[in-house]
Amino acid sequence: MRSAPSPQVVEDGPAVRADIALNVNGRERRLTIDTRMSLLDVLRDRLGLTGAKAGCDRGHCGCCTVLVEGRRVYGCLTLAVACGEARVVTVEGLGGADLHPLQEAFVARDAFQCGFCTPGQLCSAVGMLDEAARGWPGSAAGPATDAPVPVLTPAEIRERMSGNLCRCGAYQNIVAAIMDVAP
Ligand code: FES
Repeated sequence: MRSAPSPQVVEDGPAVRADIALNVNGRERRLTIDTRMSLLDVLRDRLGLTGAKAGCDRGHCGCCTVLVEGRRVYGCLTLAVACGEARVVTVEGLGGADLHPLQEAFVARDAFQCGFCTPGQLCSAVGMLDEAARGWPGSAAGPATDAPVPVLTPAEIRERMSGNLCRCGAYQNIVAAIMDVAP
């Protein structure tokens, strides 16, 4: 019987470090980081912002979603060094002193069970509503129309939020909460 091939050993090279100056939730954060660090790890491990969650760590589940320059990104797939001096908003920075209207809608609609996916759902929904307001087309509504702003039907919201999974299956209430806030 053949024995299994032994695992290939890859020697790590020396760590390369870089200085970054992120603006996180309105506050400048200067850091020296290993260039291999993800934005998610910098937020959670270096800045103590643990709202964005480490779920699959491979861009499948979306619970690490944050906003970089207003656009939603997976924190686990984004190298922090690539963000340079970008504006980053996490769930901790969405509402300021009060809850963000989407957070209020999630509470009112009971749009979660365990809550693990909720920070990512919220950041993603904020980004998604901004994309729609800018006229970015979705794919659930069929061919693009001349309407300046796409109509956010439940099907359209589901498609636009499809990068954020909810293992508790709270999708119906998540969509209802987003519909409450959508124009
Ligand atoms: Fe539990 Fe979404 S509320 S994973």
